[in-house]
Amino acid sequence: MALATLVAAALLLLHADVCGAAMYKVGELDAWAAPPSTKPDVYVRWSKSRPFKLGDALFFLYPPSQDDAVQVTAKAFAACDVADPILSLDDGNSVFNLTAPGRVYFTSSKPGHCRKGQKLSVDVPTADGKFLAPSADDQAALKALQALPPAAAPTEALPSLSDSDDDDSAAASSLPRVAGSVLLGAAAALSVLVFL
Ligand SMILES: *[C@@H]1O[C@H](CO)[C@@H](O)[C@H](O)[C@H]1NC(C)=O
Repeated sequence: MALATLVAAALLLLHADVCGAAMYKVGELDAWAAPPSTKPDVYVRWSKSRPFKLGDALFFLYPPSQDDAVQVTAKAFAACDVADPILSLDDGNSVFNLTAPGRVYFTSSKPGHCRKGQKLSVDVPTADGKFLAPSADDQAALKALQALPPAAAPTEALPSLSDSDDDDSAAASSLPRVAGSVLLGAAAALSVLVFL
């Protein structure tokens, strides 16, 4: 896994060296999809941490039966209005070249996906690295990104631990908090299995 990541990173660097352009797999998730409820802002974070330049490309990977990638205006992006996109990509393996400076906006036309946070905004600088001033529509679109649904608590699906009093959970209580709660979860899952 780590090796594959290193190889992929090396290939990306090599590619960037040879062509001066990078191809970014949007979100670095298994697929371009509605974000998990625990991470509604995954695409906001992802796009903030990538140094996009003119000539780079966005790569959307998704099962075409479940998703698509539509480029929309800033206004449509803010309103999650996917009725009349600028461009629709739906082959599951979609590359979008960043050929013009300014902001580009993407979402999915599948019902509910935009509101769940499947929204990507990329700011492409000019060839000499300057960013265009955002328009009023751009500002409204960026504000809409801040209003994504709040992250769900990641522990909501775990069984209650209140009546768990076996040795494993006692031992786990001396471990650091995060590791401890993972162990407690495992212990609880085990005790449920044993119970059945
Ligand atoms: C994007 O750029 C690549 C390489 O520069 C090119 O081969 C491809 O045809 C371009 N795609 C589109 C949709 O323009």
